[in-house]
Amino acid sequence: MRPATIVPGVFAVGAIDWNRRLFDSLIPLPDGTSYNSYLIQASEKTVLIDTVDPVMTQDLFNHLDQLGVKKIDYVVANHAEQDHSGSIPAVLAKFPEAKVLCSTKCKPFLMDLLQVAEGRIQEVQDGETLSLGNRTLKFIYTPWVHWPETMVTYLIEEKILFSCDFFGGHLAGTDLFVTDESQVYEASKRYFAEIMMPFRTNIEKDLDKLKDIPIEFIAPSHGPVHNHPEFIMKHWRSWVTDEPRNIAIIVYVSMHGSTALMVNHLAQALGGKGVEVKVFDLTVTDLGKLAMALVDAATIVIATPTVLAGPHPNAVAATVLANALRPRLKYATIIGSYLWGGKTVETLKALIPNLNVELFEPILIKGLPKEADYASLDKLADIIAEKHQPLTKALPVKVTCDTKI
Ligand code: FEO
Repeated sequence: MRPATIVPGVFAVGAIDWNRRLFDSLIPLPDGTSYNSYLIQASEKTVLIDTVDPVMTQDLFNHLDQLGVKKIDYVVANHAEQDHSGSIPAVLAKFPEAKVLCSTKCKPFLMDLLQVAEGRIQEVQDGETLSLGNRTLKFIYTPWVHWPETMVTYLIEEKILFSCDFFGGHLAGTDLFVTDESQVYEASKRYFAEIMMPFRTNIEKDLDKLKDIPIEFIAPSHGPVHNHPEFIMKHWRSWVTDEPRNIAIIVYVSMHGSTALMVNHLAQALGGKGVEVKVFDLTVTDLGKLAMALVDAATIVIATPTVLAGPHPNAVAATVLANALRPRLKYATIIGSYLWGGKTVETLKALIPNLNVELFEPILIKGLPKEADYASLDKLADIIAEKHQPLTKALPVKVTCDTKI
């Protein structure tokens, strides 16, 4: 790969990780990812904006060598996480005059995570500008996207916002700019759902901070550069502020088919009453897809058999994840099958303190569902559909499932 030119003197010099399939040992990356780093060559100073994951340092160095870079004055660390800062120690070793510029909170993170020497780090303040000669950088603190130290860097003359994780999406590809908006939308929403959703309130403030800044390009540190930035800014705003939609999620595990029968019945009943339903089989589901569904859904139904006196461990994991992501859900309930007892409902209820939801009466049945059980599920569907009445319609109404039930 060769470095790509955004505008003369501003280059994309990062790395594409085609084969990475898991991030944080948790998040699936169906489309790989990129670790974008950018080089600004100005009349007096040369600046590297963010670096790359340390496994791909050599790609970064190859790009810098191709551009004939002999000296770097500053390395901007918009965010301390290792996929962007992990190559800083190697960059500082290769360019001994370089200083790291970062937010006040980022400095100790870089020292703790990467053992960067304090003397190589220079803090920048929110709103501070730095002249590079014929170009000027402005540093804007945007905390909690998705760590407390995050900031963005704005190149004033070219109106380029280097946003790091903000407006990013895990997507490997050779296109410098966005060419397929639907693909980028999917990757960006997945990314927002997986790590940004718990910080909606902070991110809304960060979006407000950027709204009066003229931006021609958003250059994130994952995925392609946005040359029509309004596209991605509009979607982030909507994910952060929109009300939940007329969507019910059913996450389920079934050991011998009883819970699956309940799920199937409830899904069909809800679909028949105009509620969009998304069903996730937790033995095979892509957690990223579940997280994406949680961005918009109003209701979650956790469906689990009772095993070892409590909910199935897969149901526990999904419930813990939903609680941690703090989606805007309004309603929740628990359904499932058991035979002789257990603490399924109590255990699951205790796992969702972050969800500000109205909890509908759980439906736990013995063994295979009987007519009275199906009638209870119909009643539950009535309640959910009625509660969803005032919500934005998710048309056309669909029932989707990531595996056959
Ligand atoms: Fe892409 Fe928060 O690191």
